[in-house]
Amino acid sequence: MVLKNFIVFEGIDGSGTSTQIKKLVESNPNVFIATAEPTTKETGKFLRRMLCGEFSVDEKTASYLFAADRCEHIFGKDGVEDLIKNGKTVVSDRYFFSSLAYQSVSCGKDLPRLLNSPFPLPEYLFYFKIDPEISLKRVDSRNGQKEIYEKLDIQKKITKLYDEVIEEYQEKTNESGMKIIIIDATKSIDEVFNDILRELKQK
Ligand code: TYD
Repeated sequence: MVLKNFIVFEGIDGSGTSTQIKKLVESNPNVFIATAEPTTKETGKFLRRMLCGEFSVDEKTASYLFAADRCEHIFGKDGVEDLIKNGKTVVSDRYFFSSLAYQSVSCGKDLPRLLNSPFPLPEYLFYFKIDPEISLKRVDSRNGQKEIYEKLDIQKKITKLYDEVIEEYQEKTNESGMKIIIIDATKSIDEVFNDILRELKQK
């Protein structure tokens, strides 16, 4: 099932999704509203502490935690469903495709798929494709502490899994109705933004 007026940006760390969401919302704040996973709710705050390395959990547990936070994001109070009902077009920085890529690295594909099967598909899925060597340099150049997945060997594995997930959904796309757009995320910020706008204009 596709959730109309729900747009998702996905990609490895440093692929530029946050920058583009900010630009999109600024371009038309009456229409677009930004959300993100992990969320800013208590469930998301707990995940942020884990991502910073404050404590560690089994990767299977991480799959459950990301799915729980997603449940709040979509179905919780003032969540995506509520925002859409109020006439907004929601643009989310990450969604369950992140779990299918990131959590599958260490806990296999089955559990993330199972836990994420109840969630609706977005109307648009933008996949920001970039070589992890380039994106990790962008992450390195930002100030601040690195998160647990921001290492080259892990990012390479995540890239492979992301590519597989996107390909799999592309095959099913006609039946699902979700539109998948692959973005060349090595391009400049303005070029990427124009590519996104061009796709959304056809909406
Ligand atoms: P990220 O978008 O990088 O947030 P920020 O730019 O604010 O640090 O997301 C944080 C990390 O969480 C990122 O490395 C991907 C990871 N993540 C998962 O492993 N699984 C998930 O389901 C989601 C939503 C994120």
